[in-house]
Amino acid sequence: MTQRILFVCLGNICRSPAAEGVFRARAPHLSTDSAGTSDWHIGNPPYEPMQKAARARDIELSDLRARQFVAEDFHRFDLIIGMDANNIANIENLRPDGNDTPVRLLTDFAPDAGADHVPDPYYTRDFGGALDLIEAAVAGLEGHVRAQS
Ligand code: 4NP
Repeated sequence: MTQRILFVCLGNICRSPAAEGVFRARAPHLSTDSAGTSDWHIGNPPYEPMQKAARARDIELSDLRARQFVAEDFHRFDLIIGMDANNIANIENLRPDGNDTPVRLLTDFAPDAGADHVPDPYYTRDFGGALDLIEAAVAGLEGHVRAQS
């Protein structure tokens, strides 16, 4: 059963906290967290422009704090979700021997969106566009998790 889901991006201040915030609003009974493959923003709240864009959609992110993804996360979660191919490669580099926790791209769950990654709004500055894609994919992910339980 998929009960513990970890969302991962590079900085853990834009895409993965947004995905976590959207997911927990839809499925508060499941356990969620997010992490970054980098150590750049450890302890920081989500980036203010992302918090603001999320709050406009009634998604609250201000309680979240960035942390770095660690190998132990493969044991702590049932499903690990990355935002782009670099995230997936960096996650897979830390996979413990014998561990088979699934690692998937968030966009796999929004096949109609025509995107193979979530573009990083820290660089594109398109926070609303990132949230549109994240919301569509999280809806698909939630359906996937529900079908498994
Ligand atoms: P995220 O975006 O991976 O979606 O959190 C980024 C945030 C900060 C930086 C890079 C990406 N940075 O270079 O500080």
